[in-house]
Amino acid sequence: MNHVLTHIEDGVMTITLNRLERKNSITSAMYAVLADAIEQAEKDAAIRVAVLQGHETVFCAGNDIGDFLNQPPSGQDSPVFRFLRGIAGFPKPLVAAVCGPAVGIGTTMLFHCDFVYAGDNAAFSMPFVNLGLCPEAAASLLVPQMLGYHRAAEALLLGEPFMAEAALEVGLVNRVVPPMEANGVARSIARKLAVKPHSSLAETKRLMKMGTQRQVLEQMAQEGTSFGRMLGEPAAREAFGAFMNKRKPDFSGL
Ligand code: COA
Repeated sequence: MNHVLTHIEDGVMTITLNRLERKNSITSAMYAVLADAIEQAEKDAAIRVAVLQGHETVFCAGNDIGDFLNQPPSGQDSPVFRFLRGIAGFPKPLVAAVCGPAVGIGTTMLFHCDFVYAGDNAAFSMPFVNLGLCPEAAASLLVPQMLGYHRAAEALLLGEPFMAEAALEVGLVNRVVPPMEANGVARSIARKLAVKPHSSLAETKRLMKMGTQRQVLEQMAQEGTSFGRMLGEPAAREAFGAFMNKRKPDFSGL
């Protein structure tokens, strides 16, 4: 079974997370496929736009926790960081369709997309603190920038989820639609983009991002170092152990 599907049609590469039995959580092997797909979409001139999507019931439950424990990301060239740098620097339009839970990287990857269409069942959460970790994907920079500091604190320090309408209000989402329609809406926007002059799209995107691009990559590298260290520390071990054993974590004394 392929846990990441890619499909190219009419200048659009659609990348689908396809691991429903684990709520589309992402393993290291999946990150490698995602990173390769984004690289292909960047290099292949026939691909004008990329779409990231999941299922109408779930977008992505974040990192696969068991896989994460077995194969923690080792260094900046690990598949997860290749994928994150790939989407952060992706020069073409990147469109996402999000329904159901979008946990951890399921939400943080959206800050690197140009368009996000959400099902009305979408639930965004970045529970890094509850897992004994810190943000990744430059979320510690981009979330306060987009949500404002105090709402970012609710999302990142409390790890509180927020729903599609709240995401629309803060500008993380372009439009909220019935879940069955989200992938189709993303596809139709991608098709619209695919027939526009690609050099104008690329230059406009480059100009919109140039003020923050270097800072995003620096933040991502700094977060990566902290995240890697924290993965081996007692709070994360307790959180992950609790998840695997279906119990509540106990951080007293940590
Ligand atoms: N890693 C590994 N397995 C995961 C997973 C993850 N991130 N998320 C879900 N799964 C597994 C569950 O353990 C469960 O396995 P089981 O059938 O063997 O019990 C299966 O996927 C279905 O998940 P379940 O929790 O029963 O589904 P749900 O619809 O009740 O809840 C979520 C969906 C996404 C809200 C919930 O699974 C969740 O919170 N997952 C953890 C998310 C997380 O903390 N991610 C951050 C990782 S850094």
